[in-house]
Amino acid sequence: MPGPPIPIRPRRATAANLANELARRVVGQPHAMEQIVPYVQMHRAGLAPEGRPAGVFLLLGPTGTGKTRTVEALAEVLHGSEKSLLKVDCGEFQMEHEVAKLIGAPPGYLGHRETQPMLTQQKVNSVASESCNLSLLLFDEIEKAASSMTRLLLGVLDKAVLRLGDNSTVNFERSLIFLTSNLGAEAMRKELAPNFGFEAMVAEDRKASAGKIHSIGMGAVRRKFSPEFVNRIDAVIAYQPLERSSLEAILHQQIQALERHIGDRLEDRAFELEIGDDAFAWLLRKGTSCEYGARELKRTILRSLTQPIAAMVESGRIPPESLVRVEVAGDRESLDLVVEEPE
Ligand SMILES: Nc1ncnc2c1ncn2[C@@H]1O[C@H](COP(=O)(O)OP(=O)(O)OP(=O)(O)O)[C@@H](O)[C@H]1O
Ligand SMILES: [Mg+2]
Repeated sequence: MPGPPIPIRPRRATAANLANELARRVVGQPHAMEQIVPYVQMHRAGLAPEGRPAGVFLLLGPTGTGKTRTVEALAEVLHGSEKSLLKVDCGEFQMEHEVAKLIGAPPGYLGHRETQPMLTQQKVNSVASESCNLSLLLFDEIEKAASSMTRLLLGVLDKAVLRLGDNSTVNFERSLIFLTSNLGAEAMRKELAPNFGFEAMVAEDRKASAGKIHSIGMGAVRRKFSPEFVNRIDAVIAYQPLERSSLEAILHQQIQALERHIGDRLEDRAFELEIGDDAFAWLLRKGTSCEYGARELKRTILRSLTQPIAAMVESGRIPPESLVRVEVAGDRESLDLVVEEPE
């Protein structure tokens, strides 16, 4: 008699949860999450291939569209903190000799004792957590790395091993490796026809355009890196320019985060914020653009909301439990904060 059916539902649910949790944090890039989540699942199930990193992803696309945010979000979901990742700024490794900072100098070489390698097993393990033993590594702006660094990376991607200057090795089998690059970003911007922006496109065009963005990215990657390198990448993911609705959702999130911050930090001195539609549109216009995506949003909120609010709190102009209404100022160049004191 056949045994009871093998329950596969819980595992699926986990994958869906993970995808949902990520999609909540990284807005408007569902295809990116869809490509990353299966590798986390394979690792969790114990089915990831041996002798390789658990997953290698190259994230491409315009600035401020969520590439770095994706890795931070994954760190948050897997480890409970967006800081639980190891980030290597490849811009700091543009010269051939700088690679010693990464792996440490060999014994006997000048500076051997002083150069603590940036990538040690201990550091890799330290960004995993009790809830998940997967370490997240982020190599930012990979196109800037010197070729000696690309060669080292090749070994990491291929065998999941890095040999350090002192001849010890670091294992990356329990790592997800993210490479980010702006390769092709300029050509992508041109493709997105400045006079007839992404925004104005109908869904069909947008789909075609997403395909073109991917192939522009792939072309640029193939010109820059050797076939061996490209072949070791599990998924090349092209991030799309953010649509207006996504930018609005991101602004909503960041305003909510500010409100939470006020509540958590000020406790019994806390007050409520009310952002009018006009002020919301103003923040959106100031903080987002085709060119920079959502990159300037945080700064705009900081300058136009957080800092003026802080100044008012400091000088005692916002009594506890007030309502602070945010409106666009008469000159339309800044925001006004109107305090309504509690009865
Ligand atoms: N898709 C998104 N969902 C949520 N927030 C986003 C998204 N894209 C950008 N942001 C916001 O903008 C900031 C910058 O985004 P991020 O660092 O991910 O850009 P990037 O794509 O890595 O750009 P760059 O190519 O310049 O490194 C994030 O910290 C986040 O606040
Ligand atoms: Mg980035």
